Amino acid sequence: MSKPARPAHFENVYETQRISSDPQHAKALKNEFARNGIALIKIDGINCRNGIEGILKTGVFQQPWSDEYKIRLKSRKRLNHVLDPENTEDFDEIFEIMTQPLHSKTRKYLEERGPLHMQFGAPCDPPFWWQEERLRTIENEGLYHAFSEVLDTKEVNVDIQRSIFRYPGQGENAFLHWDQSIPNIGTTKQICGKLCYNEQKFVCVRGSHTPEFLQQFKELYGPHYNIDKKCKKFGLDPTKPDPMGLWEKQTAMIIPAGHLCIWSVDMLHGHQKSSLDNPIHYGTFIGAAPECTYEERKRRKKLYDEGGVPDKHPSGDPVHFYPLKYKNFPKVFDSRITKRLDPKLAKTLLFKRKVKGQEKEVWDTKGWGWTEKNPYRKYKFSRLGKRMLGLKSWSSF
Ligand SMILES: [Fe+2]
Repeated sequence: MSKPARPAHFENVYETQRISSDPQHAKALKNEFARNGIALIKIDGINCRNGIEGILKTGVFQQPWSDEYKIRLKSRKRLNHVLDPENTEDFDEIFEIMTQPLHSKTRKYLEERGPLHMQFGAPCDPPFWWQEERLRTIENEGLYHAFSEVLDTKEVNVDIQRSIFRYPGQGENAFLHWDQSIPNIGTTKQICGKLCYNEQKFVCVRGSHTPEFLQQFKELYGPHYNIDKKCKKFGLDPTKPDPMGLWEKQTAMIIPAGHLCIWSVDMLHGHQKSSLDNPIHYGTFIGAAPECTYEERKRRKKLYDEGGVPDKHPSGDPVHFYPLKYKNFPKVFDSRITKRLDPKLAKTLLFKRKVKGQEKEVWDTKGWGWTEKNPYRKYKFSRLGKRMLGLKSWSSF
C-alpha cells in the first residue's frame, strides 16, 4: 500500500558557475544524473524575487475579469486600503502576502479569481510562457554546459514552457507513474526540469530510469499489469503487488529556492499536493533536448515574435487556456469564463467554435494576458540564448 513519499535531500548540488569553469564538476553532474536519473543545479545569478514578481504582475494580476472578479487584496498595515499592484510600496505588501502561507479566507478568495488551470500547477495564459527570469536563465552559460554534458551533445535546445503558479492544496496527488507507455520508455532523449523560486518537492524513485531497472520491472510487474499497453501514462496501482518495493523507495526530493531539478523523462515519478500551510509555489519548467528541426525553429521564432503559445506541450499534449472540462460543459464555461469576463475584453477574446461532428457552435476563448497596459516585450537574447531557445541554429553560432 502506498504511503506518502518521505522527504529527502539531493546527494550533491552542482553550481552553474563551477560547471562552466570546471569540467570535473560537469562530469560529476553527468555521473550523478546517469546513476539516479535526477540531479540538482544551483542557478548562479538567479533573481527569484524578479521571477515571482513577473508571474504576479504580468500573469496573476492580469486576469481578464470584470471588477467583481479582479484580485483586490487589502492592506494589513493600513486600514481600508486596497493594494494596487502598480504602486511600488503596495506591491511590496502584495509580494509579502503572496509568498507567505495564506489565510484560508485569502486563499479561497484568490482561488475564485484564478488563474484558471491552477489545478494544473502552471497556467497556460501567454504571459506565463514568456517570463523574463525564465528567459534570462536559459541563456545561463553553466546551464548550457550542464544540459550539453548530460545530453552528450553541443547542440541543445530548451523547451518553450510555462511558469509555475500553484496554490497550496491544489492539484491531484498522483501515484507513481511514467508519462508514457512502457514500450515507449528509452526512445526519447529528453531532460525534464523544474526551476523553483521558492522551496518545492519532486516525488520519484531514484534510479528507475535505466534499461536494467526497466527490464527487472517488466519481469516482476508483467504478471500483474498489461505492460505492452500503448498509453499516455502508465501508473502503478497501490493495491497490486510491489515486488521491487517501489512505494517504499519513492522519495520527495527537496528543491531549494533558486535551484533547478532535472530528471530523466524515463524516470518513475509522482506528485504530492502541498499542504495548506505552505505558500503558493512559484517557478518554471525548463527541459532540454538535442537541437530541434528547421520547421520547429520557424514555429518557435513566430511564438517568440508574438509572445504566443505553442499548440502542444513538450509532452505532445495539446495546450488549453482553461481546464478541458469547461469545453465539454458550456454551462461551466459560461459561469467560469463568459460571466466573469471584463465586457471590454470579451469582444476580442471570445469566439464561436464548431463542435466536432455536430452542427452546433459553442463559445471558446483565445489566450489572455497581453493588453495595452500589459504588453508583450520581446526579451533581448544573447547569442547563446537564441540558440538555446531554438530561434537560431547551432550551426550559425
Ligand atoms: Fe507525470
